[in-house]
Amino acid sequence: MPAVNFSDPTGTDRHRAMDGPLGRAVMAALRAPSILNTQPWRWRIHDGAAELWADRSRQLTHLDREGRLLTFSCGIALHHAAAALTALGHRPGIDLFPDDREPDLLARLWVGEPHRPTSDESHAFQSMLSRRTDRRPGLGDVAVPAYLLRQLRGAVERSGAHLHLVPDEQLPVLMVAGDHAAQIESADPGARADLTRWTHRPQAAREGISADTVAPEVVRRVPHRQFLSGGDAHLDPGVGSDRTADYAILFADGDGRLDWLTSGEAMSALLIVATMHHISVNPISNVIEVAATRATLAGLLCQLGHPMLGMRLTVAAATPPPRETRRSPAEVIDA
Ligand SMILES: Cc1cc2nc3c(=O)[nH]c(=O)nc-3n(C[C@H](O)[C@H](O)[C@H](O)COP(=O)(O)O)c2cc1C
Repeated sequence: MPAVNFSDPTGTDRHRAMDGPLGRAVMAALRAPSILNTQPWRWRIHDGAAELWADRSRQLTHLDREGRLLTFSCGIALHHAAAALTALGHRPGIDLFPDDREPDLLARLWVGEPHRPTSDESHAFQSMLSRRTDRRPGLGDVAVPAYLLRQLRGAVERSGAHLHLVPDEQLPVLMVAGDHAAQIESADPGARADLTRWTHRPQAAREGISADTVAPEVVRRVPHRQFLSGGDAHLDPGVGSDRTADYAILFADGDGRLDWLTSGEAMSALLIVATMHHISVNPISNVIEVAATRATLAGLLCQLGHPMLGMRLTVAAATPPPRETRRSPAEVIDA
């Protein structure tokens, strides 16, 4: 499938579209997190709707051959746009996979009834914009309260997916899976090439993982992906530890492209609620990329569903990590 490419009509049309609710919602959704910050989406605003397209030129060729994490990332962007539309005073309308002939057209978003946003919805929108991935070890002494973990699970369930809170007795299995995934990927030249490509982007490209958001390797309760080695990682890890961190697996009933997309929407809902309550979420996806460890995670779910993403949950640090870059609206939105 070739990369999506649209022509840009007159500047006036674009200006009008970008100033409207859909344009503003889609611009806010550019802050959505994505696998290796690939930002694998394109938006096209026309005829009263915003179309979300998968950008296959940004798919990880080895780590994500099927497009599972690409589609999941796009699901996060879609939910971000819908949450923004709500906060801007409109009910969002969404069609998933609206055209059978266009498999890369993932969704169509339109403006529904006027709606007076609640203070919670406005807070959610602000949290969505301020959220960042913090890879430093957690605060150590304080665990996320159980009632907040239940709220995260509720947010995921309401969005059509599930959240397994990993109990202490399953942690050794998650630990071994994390180690195993890291070993398999570091022995695979294709996987290493994917990682190198997206951790060594020129600054002007505003994509990929920058050294400022990666901490040097430290001892972890569950191993995390090491993006950059030693002195190449510039984020000060601080003095915290993951001693009281919680771990969770977001999972779905099925394992097709619709499940990947709706799981991404559920992840966005989780991220927003987490940020509103000062919970930091660090995704762990190498255990999903490697088929063998994905199967191990399915075992932790007693085969009740299909794992989509692992994550570490900690109380957010008082000082946030640096903000990761994003491409400009002109590069991503056709209007
Ligand atoms: C599907 C998915 C998988 C991810 N996997 C990892 C991971 O394995 N390790 C990690 O530290 N961050 C992971 N992330 C976080 C992204 O790297 C991060 O969202 C991106 O670099 C943008 O930074 P931000 O979240 O601070 O805006 C993942 C994010 C998504 C959406």
